[in-house]
Amino acid sequence: MVKVITYGTFDLLHYGHIRLLERAKALGDYLIVGITSDDFDRKRGKINVKQSLMERIEAVRELGIADEIIIEEYEGQKIDDIKRLNIDIFTVGSDWVGKFDYLGEYCEVRYLERTEGVSSSDIRSGQNRIRLGIVGDDPYLVKFYHESKFVNGLDVTALCVSDEDTEDKKNLFDSISVTNDYDSFLDLVDAVYIHSFPQLHYELIRKALDKKKHVMCEAPVTLNIAQYDELLNAAKESGCILMDSIRTAYSTAYERLLLLLKGGAIGKVKAIEVTCTSLKDTHSTAKGWNSICAWGPNAMLPVFQILGTDYQEKNMTCSISDEDEFYDLFTKIDFFYIKAVASVKVGQGVKSEGEMIISGTEGYVYVPSPWWKTDYFEVRYENPENNKRYFYQLDGEGIRYELVSFRNQIVNNKAVGEISPAISKQFVAVIQDFYDKKIQHYIVS
Ligand code: CTP
Repeated sequence: MVKVITYGTFDLLHYGHIRLLERAKALGDYLIVGITSDDFDRKRGKINVKQSLMERIEAVRELGIADEIIIEEYEGQKIDDIKRLNIDIFTVGSDWVGKFDYLGEYCEVRYLERTEGVSSSDIRSGQNRIRLGIVGDDPYLVKFYHESKFVNGLDVTALCVSDEDTEDKKNLFDSISVTNDYDSFLDLVDAVYIHSFPQLHYELIRKALDKKKHVMCEAPVTLNIAQYDELLNAAKESGCILMDSIRTAYSTAYERLLLLLKGGAIGKVKAIEVTCTSLKDTHSTAKGWNSICAWGPNAMLPVFQILGTDYQEKNMTCSISDEDEFYDLFTKIDFFYIKAVASVKVGQGVKSEGEMIISGTEGYVYVPSPWWKTDYFEVRYENPENNKRYFYQLDGEGIRYELVSFRNQIVNNKAVGEISPAISKQFVAVIQDFYDKKIQHYIVS
């Protein structure tokens, strides 16, 4: 019996896939199809896959061409599979010519002519193209723009800046239109990403939602709970997505860490210590990006995601360096829950080790600095032999993963981002308390 194997993602199964599978089957008597897992696809940079692994398996199974389906999960697995399953022929489409010659040591390698004119990428990008506008002046936006190009079905088409220093901006943002007129800018887009200043968020978001534009806004969404509620209602009424932008929430390592905790990897969580600091950067500190706004939401994110938002009490200590702007060089917040405590330290003007430690009844999680951009963490136990290390690829600081989530929420018309409205609102509540000076201790600057 001649055994043939082929691999692929098989997202949104199309004619090209079917032809490939039929010809692969015709090469022998028994066809095994390896379908890539979501994780493996992500690792190799394929972040736009629309269907889940189960949906893709089901679609291939229903065709009835494959005699067996396996899942491809790791680099190098093909050699393992070929040896283990006694494969005679390995085959893939001609877009891979040369790439798998190394398997010739284990079996025959055949490249089949790829079917012209159809691909999953084309089908995906043909669906619901979203025109995204960017609001803000921060140099970070150039990176954001670059990262957006990795996301299918979404094009950055306009940039709204505060002063129309357009020549410079046009060079950085190649062909997109640059303006300082927010109203006309909104007419050019379906969705906006706001990276402006915290005091301006409310008005910018309100106007966008009134024009039925989806919004992703750098957290915090506003500085006031009443405004937050109003914006959330406006989003619901206009059928729009309103999403906090915090890239950490979409990084694979961080997502896996939350799942491990839910699965009880360190028993019951009793304490969380989170630190996020940087030294002052003159651009962002100019209008309201003080420590609590710039770092607060990011640092509070794991606390609220792991312990929830219903703490009994909190205790804030701040070092205020500028009374007029109420600029905090450093803020420490302790959250007291019935069964746990958390301590959050944020500083934009004070530097510390940006690590996160989560203590549990059976062990603890250690995420090294800078934990908010992590691709690595350790689960440690009393007996070091049981320690486990986890590494997950983080591409583009998580920007592209966050954008994929924003796009999917828009396309599916469902607000299912990683940061729930309850959490988002709690960021605002804490920051409002800060501005209302409900601060328990001050450190003299
Ligand atoms: N394939 C093909 N003809 C096409 C598209 C795909 O023969 N028009 C083959 C590929 O060469 C591969 C298999 O089908 O052997 C699975 O390909 P996959 O990467 O899942 O499909 P694509 O449509 O190429 O997906 P994408 O656009 O996401 O790369």
